[in-house]
Amino acid sequence: MKTKQLEELVLQSLEHEMGGVKVYIAAVACAVNGDLKEEWEKYLAQTRTHVTALEEVCAAMGLDPNAETPGRKIVRHNGAALVEAMKIAQAAGDPGAAELVACECVVLAETKDHLDWELLTACGEHLKGPAAQTLKTAAEKVEDEEDEHLYHTKGWCRELWRQSLGLKAVLPPPEERKHVKSAIGAARAEQAAHHGR
Ligand SMILES: [Fe+2]
Ligand SMILES: [Fe+2]
Repeated sequence: MKTKQLEELVLQSLEHEMGGVKVYIAAVACAVNGDLKEEWEKYLAQTRTHVTALEEVCAAMGLDPNAETPGRKIVRHNGAALVEAMKIAQAAGDPGAAELVACECVVLAETKDHLDWELLTACGEHLKGPAAQTLKTAAEKVEDEEDEHLYHTKGWCRELWRQSLGLKAVLPPPEERKHVKSAIGAARAEQAAHHGR
């Protein structure tokens, strides 16, 4: 395994979680549905713990958590763009539309978040030395939460869009009701919702 690129992944992941806190603060402000707001408040709190987990990984790896890289700069840029998109949507004065924008922004953010932790889990299995256990412990705890962040928000996004179109919607989405924690589970939940309509 290429240690230098693992360092890049850790720094990007940290930057993304820091941006994720800001994304969730903006998304919570856009949420109209009470259950969704509650869900995102939970994800916001979890995202804060992900920042701490990655700071601990940096410390264990002897990596400066503030070290700048070109890749990290892009991650910060993308996160800020998502926050700006939600603020623009909110300022337009249609709360339902802003909520849909927030759902899409969270799905985009969580797609990278999910990838980061999937890769960190894989690296944890190959890393040698004292930092390996810190990385493994962090990844084990966080990866399940990331599954939920991504698959459940995807469900919210689809069902709230359906509702806005005047189509039959399942709210909270089946992914949340069935406590989906995998891509296969998400596909099954979506399929079941489809048959139930
Ligand atoms: Fe996260
Ligand atoms: Fe997440």
